[in-house]
Amino acid sequence: MCGIFAYLNYRVPRTRKEIFETLVKGLLRLEYRGYDSAGIAVDGPRKTATDNNNNNTICLIKTKGKVKNLDEELCKKDSLDLDEELNTHFGIAHTRWATHGEPSPVNSHPHRSDKTNEFVVVHNGIITNYKELKAYLINKGYEFESETDTEVIPKLTKYVYDNRENDSITFSTVVERVIQQLEGAFALVFKSRHFPSEVVSTRRGSPLLIGVRCEQELMTDNIPIQYNSAHFIEGVQEKNSHNRPDSSSAINSVGDGRPVEYYFASDASAIIEHTNKVLYLEDNDVAVVTGGKLSIHRVNREAGEDPVRAIQTLQMELQQIMKGNFDAFMQKEIFEQPESVVNTMRGRICFDTSTVILGGLKDHLKEIKRCRRLIVIGCGTSFHAAVATRQVLEELTELSVMVELASDFLDRNTPVFRDDVCFFISQSGETADTLMALRYCKGQGALTVGITNTVGSSICRETDCGVHVNAGPEIGVASTKAYTSQFVALTMFGLMMSEDRLSLQQRRLEIIEGFRVLPELIKKVLALDMKIKAIADELYEQKSLLVMGRGFHYATCLEGALKIKEITYMHSEGILAGELKHGPLALIDKDMPVIMIIMRDACYSKCQNALQQVIARSGRPIILCCQDDPEINQMAYHTIELPHTVDCLQGILSVIPLQLLSFHLAVLRGFDVDFPRNLAKSVTVE
Ligand code: F6R
Repeated sequence: MCGIFAYLNYRVPRTRKEIFETLVKGLLRLEYRGYDSAGIAVDGPRKTATDNNNNNTICLIKTKGKVKNLDEELCKKDSLDLDEELNTHFGIAHTRWATHGEPSPVNSHPHRSDKTNEFVVVHNGIITNYKELKAYLINKGYEFESETDTEVIPKLTKYVYDNRENDSITFSTVVERVIQQLEGAFALVFKSRHFPSEVVSTRRGSPLLIGVRCEQELMTDNIPIQYNSAHFIEGVQEKNSHNRPDSSSAINSVGDGRPVEYYFASDASAIIEHTNKVLYLEDNDVAVVTGGKLSIHRVNREAGEDPVRAIQTLQMELQQIMKGNFDAFMQKEIFEQPESVVNTMRGRICFDTSTVILGGLKDHLKEIKRCRRLIVIGCGTSFHAAVATRQVLEELTELSVMVELASDFLDRNTPVFRDDVCFFISQSGETADTLMALRYCKGQGALTVGITNTVGSSICRETDCGVHVNAGPEIGVASTKAYTSQFVALTMFGLMMSEDRLSLQQRRLEIIEGFRVLPELIKKVLALDMKIKAIADELYEQKSLLVMGRGFHYATCLEGALKIKEITYMHSEGILAGELKHGPLALIDKDMPVIMIIMRDACYSKCQNALQQVIARSGRPIILCCQDDPEINQMAYHTIELPHTVDCLQGILSVIPLQLLSFHLAVLRGFDVDFPRNLAKSVTVE
């Protein structure tokens, strides 16, 4: 999905080249979100003769394809003096993922008000009433050049500016008038040659945060800034401080005229290498920088209504978002799973006392225990995490558990009641369908619980309570470590709910012991990488791949097939083995590759029946099974033998070979593993 990055240096001299490099680097950090074109706006050379407006100019550089193509475009701009030092400057940048109009330079952002670039803007989200606005503006004589919804924004900005009542109008007032006309979702950053080195940014429905870097004394002396870093205590989410920063650690203005740098971005990965001091804008906040001073107010504010926003200290390290020695982020993230599951458990499971406490939920536990049912909602991989843990949640909570795809849930206007507890599972915390489902459930009066991997995300802020899975930044578009961490977090919730159930104590102990050894077992599965690569060598030219299993492994089949199709572009289907004879059996012959998951659990003999049926049709199954299972070994074409663990956690181990297989298949087929075609990391449109 689209990415925003913008950089203001105030009384911090930077050459134009350095500024350009900062902007490009910011975009590179956002690449993982998925994009198809990119663009940058920086100040151009000042005109010698003044025109009607002023003699500032803005230069736009936009390309289709990779961010690095911007360098080539920059070289073509002869008039730009790259060595010129700019004491104060504001530049904006964007990666676009096409929704309205094909990927092309003209459709990419920043979009402009007119050929002289009076106003330029970068936008994430969708303007739903753009057709009406466009018709109105065309009628007023404004000319459009792109097919995008975004272009109405700079055009409307110029319209408002052109029709101002007097020359003392501020940039912020112009923008406020514009956004009052916009419907849909947006995060916006504006630049104008009428207001050089001023910034106006705002959001409604799409995330936007601001990083602040200034000299140390500026942080502590006269300016009332304190940092609110208490979001996690040993992995426990402090939800109250998260949702409602206390006023002692909050501010509504920063900067006193001394040197300062500001970074605006749609997510923290673009900012973290510059500063870990950030503040998150809320919907309808307008953040303005003039004369190096950042202030925040609400659209349509009444006097005295300026909000306070906490400056937070991000706990993320740059190296966490770098690729390290791996060929791809996805591969790195698969191999991080022994640590990421530990991070999900850290500070929450006490192995000595066999207790589990999720700090973000403990105040709501009584209410959750009284509920009528649990509804677990998500999309894609996050939905699969719900499917994977449904059985253990039913068992440990003794409640009815519904699992729902967010989009379908909304389409059905599913009945939701005040005594329901609704879980929203989302790695990014920004998925539009999941967010809509959350707002719908809130409207019905249900208690809402977020399970997210992204601190400060919309789902995290809008839910009543929640759990951060703490898997660390996931850059590869295909979700891997977030899935296993969601799996762990949901199972921990089941354990927390069953603490006082005598009849479940034995089961709880077995699962907690399973968690204790989980990281070591994951390492053993990862050690099978070369064997899995050898299987990929045999399979990579196939058109189709079936993945079959049942019980605790049905979710693994769905998730494995999703991984395969999204990054290898092979057709792949996750099939419930119990459904085999109801249709899918017709697909089986000697040429159709079939992966079967047959572990020693309650479904073992039923899975063996399915295996017999596949073999009887000359199928050559590749079987994921437990170590030392001679019976299965005999019937398999290939086996991938996994260490054995408690049945309800076995799915964490069985999904990893399929993550690895999809990775190797994609590499062998020559595809960019981290940026699969047509897909985005964070799906912020419905
Ligand atoms: C698949 C994948 C997607 C996401 C889905 C939901 O590998 O990543 O299916 O799981 O778009 O995203 P989140 O979890 O961010 O809500």
